Amino acid sequence: MDVKVPPMSITIQPVSAQHPDFVGVVQGVQLAQPLEPSVVAAIDAGMDHYGVLVFRDQPLTQSEQIALARHFGPLDAGLRKATGAPTRFQHEELIDIGNVKLDGAVADRSDQKLIGVLANQLWHSDSTFQDLPVKYSMLSAVVVPDSGADTEWCDLRAAWDDLPRELQTLVEGRTAQHSAFHSRILLGDDKYDAAQLERFPPVDRALVHVHPGSGRKVLFASVHCQQVSGMTVPEGRLLVQELLEHATQRKYVYRHQWQVGDYVMWDNRATLHRGRRYDLSVRRDLRRTTTLERWAAQAAAA
Ligand code: OGA
Ligand code: MN
Repeated sequence: MDVKVPPMSITIQPVSAQHPDFVGVVQGVQLAQPLEPSVVAAIDAGMDHYGVLVFRDQPLTQSEQIALARHFGPLDAGLRKATGAPTRFQHEELIDIGNVKLDGAVADRSDQKLIGVLANQLWHSDSTFQDLPVKYSMLSAVVVPDSGADTEWCDLRAAWDDLPRELQTLVEGRTAQHSAFHSRILLGDDKYDAAQLERFPPVDRALVHVHPGSGRKVLFASVHCQQVSGMTVPEGRLLVQELLEHATQRKYVYRHQWQVGDYVMWDNRATLHRGRRYDLSVRRDLRRTTTLERWAAQAAAA
């Protein structure tokens, strides 16, 4: 007799009772398979609510990871699209997060590649320094060290809600200048010439914006901010520092301990993230895809 197996249904639960609206754990979906529109809609709704979604046991080939990400919008190739740097992957939209060189060996401590790895350990939202706004980033864990190398996310909507009124008034209506170089310069990687700086001009973004999927306000400061409108450079940098200190209090932070096959997606418009320290001589291979806001990609193509 034929027994009909009901389709697995997707469930999303908060990762912890401590923050019911931040970070969901998703079950009942196979990410390596093409997704039904209803599943994509459920994931989008989960992203709108939780800002970060965690999927366990979802090993993906390179092509599967690209196909999966395309369900959520046009893909961005990150800094590489401007630098034209070579990739070790089959798809140029796969962004290399980790310490592996083109030849497959672990990068040497002094390798220039590690600047990007280390800059990722400062609180940021991906690619806010480019004029095309990005939406989701999605990381797939292929090789992870036994210890360290966790990733943390913080909830910028809760951070706005709890920001003291006086600070809300101070930041509302201001913009911050986001630069691709600021986090690197902070780490002592400051030998950029005028041509390089001109290739990635800074971009102004509101310090407070409304998250389209939830209608909630977001406190949008990060390590990419090098200047605040209407303030001197030092005043603005101190303000950004104070806002980051507020937004990254432990009560707003989720720390993810990676296992091979984990897949985590986050909304760059509502969260910050950072990697945590690890022994750089130990192999770590995480691969990211990032989507652009659909409207922005269409406007850029027109
Ligand atoms: C990223 C990122 C942090 C990490 O993938 O965009 O910042 O822990 N990753 O590797
Ligand atoms: Mn990042």
